[in-house]
Amino acid sequence: MLYDKEILVIEDNESSRHDLAVVFKFLTEQARAVSFAQWEKMAPEFKACCLPGSERELGVVFIGSCAAEVDIKTHLDTIRTACDSAPVVLIGEQEVSDDWDPYTKHMVIETLSWPVSYTEMLNVIHRAQRYNEAQARQKMEKHQRPVHLFRSLVGTSREIQAVRAMMSQVADKDVTVLIEGESGTGKEVVARNLHYHSARRDGPFVPVNCGAIPAELLESELFGHEKGAFTGAINSRAGRFELAEGGTLFLDEIGDMPLHMQVKILRVLQEKSYERVGGNKTYKTDVRIIAATHRNLEKMIESGGFREDLYYRLNVFPIGMPSLRDRAEDIPLLINELISRLESEKRGSVRFNSAAIMSLCGHPWPGNVRELANLVERMAIMNPFGIVGVQDLPKKYRHVEDAEDSEEFEVFAEESRKPTIVGEGDIALLPENGIDLKEYIAGLEQSLIQQALDNTGGVVARAAEQLTIRRTTLVEKMRKYGLQRG
Ligand SMILES: Nc1ncnc2c1ncn2[C@@H]1O[C@H](COP(=O)(O)OP(=O)(O)OP(=O)(O)O)[C@@H](O)[C@H]1O
Ligand SMILES: [Mg+2]
Repeated sequence: MLYDKEILVIEDNESSRHDLAVVFKFLTEQARAVSFAQWEKMAPEFKACCLPGSERELGVVFIGSCAAEVDIKTHLDTIRTACDSAPVVLIGEQEVSDDWDPYTKHMVIETLSWPVSYTEMLNVIHRAQRYNEAQARQKMEKHQRPVHLFRSLVGTSREIQAVRAMMSQVADKDVTVLIEGESGTGKEVVARNLHYHSARRDGPFVPVNCGAIPAELLESELFGHEKGAFTGAINSRAGRFELAEGGTLFLDEIGDMPLHMQVKILRVLQEKSYERVGGNKTYKTDVRIIAATHRNLEKMIESGGFREDLYYRLNVFPIGMPSLRDRAEDIPLLINELISRLESEKRGSVRFNSAAIMSLCGHPWPGNVRELANLVERMAIMNPFGIVGVQDLPKKYRHVEDAEDSEEFEVFAEESRKPTIVGEGDIALLPENGIDLKEYIAGLEQSLIQQALDNTGGVVARAAEQLTIRRTTLVEKMRKYGLQRG
């Protein structure tokens, strides 16, 4: 799961070192287990993310118990100096200290206690992989800012592909764009993407929420004011147009802009100049305008709430954001993205089982992606690092039954007790986005072993017969997976 990266275990207890090495071997991860004394010897030669004598980068470091009194912060510093992107897992007695700097605390992605179960190990390696990906992304963004933002527009549905196609047509043209769509559909994500894919990417991106600023303050907020322009204007102040000079001004919720301000914006669009409130100096402006709204501007024009001339000025290139219910196939991908955001921000994690995901795909999502993001966050708080099933979802999100409660599952469980179930005419379908084969097979193996143990009342010898493996092999596997006889 860590692909071509290497795992380092620093542990003085020989038996723990051996146990960890066995788990990693089973997971076919490349691991090196050393004592603290050995680590101290090799540390000075540890360079550019690679351990001495290796070409593989370090994927994660497990730090366990130490025979002598030792300050593990020193070791963390060595790891960080040579490899600022390797995550660390503390096992056993080691703990994160409050005195550590935030970066070091951030490096420690997990603290585990003995005995470490197979699932915990699988989860922690998965998190390490996510951490490495996030670090690699951050490094890349430093050189290539736009990549991140395109990535942030997650989805493979036809609808989101159409949005991406429109974006790539217009991003580097200096035209005004109007993004329309329901609340939470990602209008701001698109606006930022357009900016970072334009020639203005090194200039500022300045958002203004026209609906959130009181009408009487909006003019000064946008155009700035001169000293003494109104009561309280003690100093002169630049407006958002000035701040956005050379960049992009994002007029969010433009449908909420009062009519008198609409006239002023229209003038700036036509003449590319404006005056500060209380001033008569004319400022030339070079900003690209991107506007967004969740309102139906054409209807507002009919009812006199929006100026038709401004609408045509803004609507040079319209982009319509699809609602989430119209692209439900993107929901699993979005959930993954939202979870990895939580993980990389160290705000916890959670998983959803397939029944829960199916249930969410049937939800109407009036709040769109924002609502989904809030749900994922709420579930991570309520089930920290757990697996959410349908019953764990808030009531309004339950649109299917949990597999475990449903009749279908009963039938499957009944069938699975027959000795012929494995492989008999059953072809597992490869999901479109692929799977982690190792993880899948390990899960399957664990489940079959547990079933054999349940069937035989925990008699290992009989369970081994059912699985046609040696008793000692079964014992070894049970230990690896942390499975009990009962
Ligand atoms: N395609 C997407 N991929 C990943 N995240 C997304 C996507 N669309 C939206 N989001 C996330 O959903 C949340 C809402 O997005 P955004 O603020 O862009 O929506 P909006 O349309 O501007 O909403 P509102 O009208 O309420 O202001 C953000 O956290 C954003 O990161
Ligand atoms: Mg918005």
